[in-house]
Amino acid sequence: MRKLLIAANWKMYKTPTESTAFLTSFFPLIKNDTFAEIVLCPAMPCLPALVDAARAKPVFVGAQNMHWKNEGAFTGETSPVMLSAIGATHVLIGHSERRQYFNETDTTVNLKLKAALAHSLIPIVCVGEKLEEREAGLTRNVLELQTSIALEGIDSAIAAPIVFAYEPVWAIGTGRTATPEIAEDAHKIIRAQIGKSLTPALATSIRILYGGSVKPDNAKSLCCIGDIDGALVGGASLNPQSFAEIVHNAKP
Ligand code: PGA
Repeated sequence: MRKLLIAANWKMYKTPTESTAFLTSFFPLIKNDTFAEIVLCPAMPCLPALVDAARAKPVFVGAQNMHWKNEGAFTGETSPVMLSAIGATHVLIGHSERRQYFNETDTTVNLKLKAALAHSLIPIVCVGEKLEEREAGLTRNVLELQTSIALEGIDSAIAAPIVFAYEPVWAIGTGRTATPEIAEDAHKIIRAQIGKSLTPALATSIRILYGGSVKPDNAKSLCCIGDIDGALVGGASLNPQSFAEIVHNAKP
C-alpha cells in the first residue's frame, strides 16, 4: 500500500510569519485527513518557524533544495546536516525551476539524492519533460534518463523512502495540466525505470506524485488514480483553503 503524499511547494513566496499563519488556518481544515502524508515546503528562512509550529501536528515540513555536502565553502547553500538539525523531514530535489535557472543537472540530482538518504531526509525527486521534448516524441527517453541517472549507485537496501514527482515542465504554473492518461503513461515509464535501476519490489512500493497546475477541481482525477500517489502543488498550495480542498478531493 502506497500512502498518498500531498506536498506544497511555496517557491519564493511567504515570510516566516505568513508561513505559520498559513498553518494556523490550514491545520483545522485537514486535521482528520490521515489518509495522506501532508508536506509543506517553504523557503529556507521559514523552515525553523514552520517546523516549530507543525510540531505534534500530522504535517511535515520539507526544504525546496539543498547542497549534497555536509559543510564547506559554498556561499548561499544549505546542507543536509543543517536541514536535519532544524527538524526538516523532506526535501525537494531537482525541481525543474532549479534545473532551468540554477544549473541543476541529473548528476547533481543524483548527489543530492544520495545525501538526503544518508541523512534520513525523505527526498522528493522531480523529473519531467519540456514541451519541445514532448512534441519531438522524446518523453520516454527524458523520463528514463532523468530517473536512471538520479538512481545511479543508490543501494536498493536504503532506497525505500524515495519519492518521485512527475512534473511535465509545460504544466508548471501554466494552468495547463497533463490529462490523467498522459500522467498515467509517464508514471508507468518512471515506475518501470525504478524497477530496472533498483528492484521490482521498489518499483511497486515507491510513490510517484503528479505536479503541474494541480488545483482543487482537478485533484481528484490527477492525484490518486492508478499509478499516481499524490501531488506536488505550487500556486494552489499558497492558500490554506485551496490546498485543503486539494487534500480533500484527492481522498481515494
Ligand atoms: P504549479 O507548480 O502547481 O504552480 O504548477 C508545481 C510545482 O512547481 O511543483
